Amino acid sequence: MSSSSGDAAPLHMVTPCIRSFPISAHTGYDVYLKLENLQIPGSFKIRGIGNLLRNAAVHGCKKIVCPSGGNAGLAAAYAAKMIGLPAVIVLPQSTPAFVADKLRTEFGAEVEIKGKIWDESNTYAKELAKQPDVLYVHPYDHPDIWEGHKSMIIEASQQMPCQPDVVIASVGGGGLLNGILRGMQEVGWSDVPCLAMETVGADCLNAAIKAGKPVTLPDITSVAKSLGALTVADDTFNMVKQWKNFHSVVIQDAQAVDACFKLADDHRFLVEPACGASLHAVYGDVISNLQKEGKLGPVKSALVIVCGGSSATIKQMETWKNIVNL
Ligand SMILES: Cc1ncc(COP(=O)(O)O)c(C=O)c1O
Repeated sequence: MSSSSGDAAPLHMVTPCIRSFPISAHTGYDVYLKLENLQIPGSFKIRGIGNLLRNAAVHGCKKIVCPSGGNAGLAAAYAAKMIGLPAVIVLPQSTPAFVADKLRTEFGAEVEIKGKIWDESNTYAKELAKQPDVLYVHPYDHPDIWEGHKSMIIEASQQMPCQPDVVIASVGGGGLLNGILRGMQEVGWSDVPCLAMETVGADCLNAAIKAGKPVTLPDITSVAKSLGALTVADDTFNMVKQWKNFHSVVIQDAQAVDACFKLADDHRFLVEPACGASLHAVYGDVISNLQKEGKLGPVKSALVIVCGGSSATIKQMETWKNIVNL
């Protein structure tokens, strides 16, 4: 793992890609889980953001600023600490106090609380980043981020015994999906169907597909706050349009939260509803419904990106459960 600027070692870990026996017994086909929840800052985000920071450090960056009260902020703070750069993480007022504590105490970041919503934190972060040699870290919209996320598919292609019949991932602003599609192209999986999961009230990709162009959601009403981008990245939308076999599916919050509890029972992992959205594709009837509609062919194996999420504490899991009346 890298500890000095310019070091070539990536900041993320190679994660296991396990065959889930409990989920496969439930589905009747083999389900492989790419365990991004095991990354140190709690999610896949470190792959892309780690890559962005490492490249910036090589090019003389002296400080980073990231507007995110979520997993992107944690990944940025962790990456900065490992590289040895000071980090300012700008959080909206709605961010839970434990996130600010974690950023400060575990990763040594400076935390600034600015704005009611992310857009206001973002405007402030962009102002800070106007100083020389300061890198502005967008949570999902940057080619270096997509390049970093790509690595999870390259790993999975070497870890799985076969090519999957479907790849399943959650979508917020589309950084994860962008990296996944690029990775799939690189490993020769361009014909493999991709299933993009969102929740009602955090469904900017689905809204863009319906509108034929990226649109801005009026609000984020889902409990899957990590999927809460108002607009999908243009580049991701363009990639989706060109993917041969692409399915955008929007599910209820309760289904995403229920899948989080099922994963906890089956594999003893806690993940956010942002990740539960993908897991519902195999715990629920999404795949069989697509097959009944003739949109998806036979599935012998599925790859699910377990994107993780660090706000999934035992207490928070109970709160989500109550909110969605499970
Ligand atoms: C746990 C988790 N899953 C999925 C996503 C969605 O990622 P993206 O915004 O790159 O689409 C996020 C974004 O923060 C996340 O934290």
